[in-house]
Amino acid sequence: MMKKILLPSMMCADFSSLNREVKELDAAGADGFHMDIMDGHYVPNFGISPEDYAVIRSATKKTMDAHLMIQEPSNYINYFHELGANIIYIHPDSDKHPARTIDSIHNLDIKAGIAINPDISIEVIKSLLDLTDYVLVMTVNPGFSGQKYLNYVDKKIIRLIELRNSYHYQIVVDGAITPDKMTYLHGLGVDGFVLGTSALFNKPDSYQSILNSLHKKEQ
Ligand code: DX5
Ligand code: ZN
Repeated sequence: MMKKILLPSMMCADFSSLNREVKELDAAGADGFHMDIMDGHYVPNFGISPEDYAVIRSATKKTMDAHLMIQEPSNYINYFHELGANIIYIHPDSDKHPARTIDSIHNLDIKAGIAINPDISIEVIKSLLDLTDYVLVMTVNPGFSGQKYLNYVDKKIIRLIELRNSYHYQIVVDGAITPDKMTYLHGLGVDGFVLGTSALFNKPDSYQSILNSLHKKEQ
C-alpha cells in the first residue's frame, strides 16, 4: 500500500504563533503544507496572505503548494513561484486558458495541479489530465474549513483512480477529511490528504500523535 501524503491545511493553523506551528507540524511528520489562497471573488472568502505565505516558507524546507481559489490565476503564477510554491493548483473554470497556465507553471520548473470543484465533471477537464501532475479533488465546496464532506464526489474519485493508469497525475483530496474518510479513500488509491479541522487542527492531541496515528492508520 503506497505511503499517504499528509498535508496540513494552513488556513486552519494558529496564526498567533505561525512559525511555531510550522516547526511543530514539520517535526511531527507533515509531508508538505497546503496553502489556500482566496480572492473573495472566485470563492466568498479570503485565505492565507502573501506575508503569512512567506513566514511559512521561511520556517520549512518541505513542499508547499498554492491552492489558487482566485479568478484568472495565470496573472499570479510568477508571484507564487517567487513566494516559494513548489506546486501551484488552479481551478480550470477560473482561467480563460488553463492548458496555457499549466504550461507556464511547468516553465518555472515547478509542479502543476488542477483543482476540481464538486460540480465539475471529469469530462469537462479530461483534456487537462495529460498535462497535470496532480488532481486536487474538492470534497467540499471551496473556500471554508469546517464543512461537511460531499459523498457524491466519491464516484468522481473512483473514476479518477480508474483513469490514472493512462496518465501521470497523483490524486489529492481537499475538504472535511476525517481519519476514517482518509483510511477509506487511501484504500481506494488516493495519494494525498489535505488535513484541516476534521482531522488535525483544534484537537486535544498533539500534532505528533495525530500525524503518527494517521500515517499508521490502515483499513
Ligand atoms: C477548503 C479548504 C481545506 C479544508 C480545511 O476550501 O481548502 O483547507 O476544507 O479542512 P476541513 O474541511 O477539515 O476543516
Ligand atoms: Zn485547499
